[in-house]
Amino acid sequence: MTDIDKESLVSEEIAPTQLSMDMTSSKRHASSSRKHRRSRKVNGALHHGDCIKIMNEMKKESVKIIVTSPPYNIKNSTGNGLKDCRGGKWKGAALQQGYDTHADAMRHGEYVQWQRDCLTSMMRVLRQDGAIFYNHKWRVQGGLLQDRHDIVDGFPVRQIIIWQRNGGINFNPGYFLPTYEVIYLIAKPKFKLTPKSNAMGDVWKISQEKNNEHPAPFPIELATRCIESVDDGLVLDPFMGSGSTAIAAELNNREWIGIDISEKYCDMAKDRIAEITGKSF
Ligand SMILES: C[S@@+](CC[C@H](N)C(=O)[O-])C[C@H]1O[C@@H](n2cnc3c(N)ncnc32)[C@H](O)[C@@H]1O
Repeated sequence: MTDIDKESLVSEEIAPTQLSMDMTSSKRHASSSRKHRRSRKVNGALHHGDCIKIMNEMKKESVKIIVTSPPYNIKNSTGNGLKDCRGGKWKGAALQQGYDTHADAMRHGEYVQWQRDCLTSMMRVLRQDGAIFYNHKWRVQGGLLQDRHDIVDGFPVRQIIIWQRNGGINFNPGYFLPTYEVIYLIAKPKFKLTPKSNAMGDVWKISQEKNNEHPAPFPIELATRCIESVDDGLVLDPFMGSGSTAIAAELNNREWIGIDISEKYCDMAKDRIAEITGKSF
């Protein structure tokens, strides 16, 4: 269970804090926030726990931008990769064992409902001028395209961005090497991009992350593009993993909140954020 300090989630100004939230008053938050900025402390809060539970404790319409990549349920696969959770051909795949505390092998319907519940909680905390950048992957299952429409149906999808990565790990001679993922831009009515960022277009060529122990990170540059294309405001990643979104937020001097169900990944994120930004928790 999370060590969440509810106050840190509902205050107007999210104070920098530690993994286990140990601050108890908004007065302390405000003064420590000022002090932390002077002393090169991080501009954000990392929460260990279930993202729906934590998001539902956050203040409504308080977040400007959500940049996130959920587990893809990749081990529930009919294909040759991680077939039927038995391993398939990707014996060496980073996600062979699933995540630290999440097996990534739910029944399809259960997974879709879970992701819809996550999106509903994200929409609740999103400002009227905010947007969600929801990274996912299309795949073919049983000969049919699984384009994730069942997850996003009814949510205000405004655009689909293609993230063109370099090659993956599927060297099957029957298939072209998969090299893209998608980012659903799900936007509330008043959302607008910052001037000129629409010139980036809707196909983003960004190499995958290297030297990261997390099994499924996205590149810091991907999160950076999302954040830089949106005006100032609180950044949230409910599936924070190794902290890529937090690092991008820090590098752009934005305040952020990150959530992950795995304590191990929270520790990993904490170390990585400190190492790359030079800031401490
Ligand atoms: C695709 S990874 C995110 C990787 C991240 N974008 C990065 O760059 O490192 C998905 C993450 O969701 C986390 N997760 C799974 N179930 C969760 C839940 N119920 N609440 C919060 N996090 C969860 C996993 O532990 C995993 O780190």
